[in-house]
Amino acid sequence: MSESLSRRDFMKATVFFVGGAVGAAVGIPTVGYLIAPALKGGAKEAWIPIGKMADMSEIGKPYPFSFTLVQVNGWERTSTSHGGFVIRKSAAPDDLVILDSRCPHLGCTVNWKDAEKAFVCPCHDASFDTEGAVLAGPPPRPMDRFADFRVTEDGVLEIFYKEG
Ligand code: FES
Repeated sequence: MSESLSRRDFMKATVFFVGGAVGAAVGIPTVGYLIAPALKGGAKEAWIPIGKMADMSEIGKPYPFSFTLVQVNGWERTSTSHGGFVIRKSAAPDDLVILDSRCPHLGCTVNWKDAEKAFVCPCHDASFDTEGAVLAGPPPRPMDRFADFRVTEDGVLEIFYKEG
């Protein structure tokens, strides 16, 4: 009898542990969803906060940013990662260039190389200046820009993201 009870207790403990593990696994995408809830319900555009202006004070320095969008359509969730660089051209808060880090050639992610003072694409050795203009390599056009942006009352820089 007491052996039977202890087996039952063991089963309870096992079920509880597995249930907790599943809950934790479900919790991970939930956290991601909370971080990037921008495109819910099939929306195709949103304002995305990318950083505080106070943390991007140096003029001419590329400040990287990244964000993940989660699109929810019924039971289906699709997440996409995006990134870019903010470059202040002067002390004026709206005098910015915000470049998309996706290479306009075939979509690899470009990186800032301080030694070369250029954005460099690792895939086919393209390089771009701080305005996003092509310096070398095969890209057919300059880096894309997030042209619509705003600074909130709290000093947070937001970009307007539009799918497509
Ligand atoms: S993908 Fe960047 S140069 Fe080809």
